[in-house]
Amino acid sequence: MPTLLQLDSSADLDNSVSRAVTASFVDAWRGLSPDHRVVRRDLHTDPLPHLADAALHWPPRLRSADANPPADAEALQRQIIDELIAADAVVVGAPMYNYSLPSTLKAWIDYIHVPGVTTPFDDDSQPMAGRPAVIISSRGGIYDPGTANDGWDHTVPPLQIILGDALGMEVSVITASRTLSAVVPGLAAEADRAAAELDAAHRRAVELAVAAGSS
Ligand SMILES: Cc1cc2nc3c(=O)[nH]c(=O)nc-3n(C[C@H](O)[C@H](O)[C@H](O)COP(=O)(O)O)c2cc1C
Repeated sequence: MPTLLQLDSSADLDNSVSRAVTASFVDAWRGLSPDHRVVRRDLHTDPLPHLADAALHWPPRLRSADANPPADAEALQRQIIDELIAADAVVVGAPMYNYSLPSTLKAWIDYIHVPGVTTPFDDDSQPMAGRPAVIISSRGGIYDPGTANDGWDHTVPPLQIILGDALGMEVSVITASRTLSAVVPGLAAEADRAAAELDAAHRRAVELAVAAGSS
């Protein structure tokens, strides 16, 4: 049974662009067959606690002798990692907050990036290798090459590094920019471009869902 893990992290439950585009991805995934299932983790409405103990970055065999992380935190981490490893594909809603990730999504990364478990370290563990991950990043402003904020996007790169380089997943990125064009006076002239980017984001999400769910 092909399983998609859907992560959302926008703090906007009414008008979120990233939530709308992950929903398009999910609809296309579900439309592939009655067996295509979705496990949803809403990191905003059901946030994970911050990592309780630095020792949790490592599996027990790689921890110092005096490490003693709380058992309940360790059990939660196991649950989060098992949920990830059970997924054939992952779609991540990643809005830009202060040029970076929502802290709720960052907390999830802190749970799942464990050398020797999800990424190679003293062995070649890399259970997610080759599986598709689709990052859907919405941002209020403009980050196009050559613009004033070119290079200020610190939302997508950490996800590409962790999911792609560390976990070995096949990462695709969809961006929808200028989402604040209706709100920020200085961006008003960008409204048409924002609408076009959003339309393209929905269409790309459907394409990538069909590709991910058909492989
Ligand atoms: C806490 C917060 C911080 C934000 N910081 C930025 C920012 O640094 N750069 C930017 O372009 N937009 C910023 N925005 C705007 C969001 O990126 C934009 O509204 C985006 O559409 C949010 O995704 P969503 O529509 O899925 O909620 C911020 C919004 C919030 C709520």
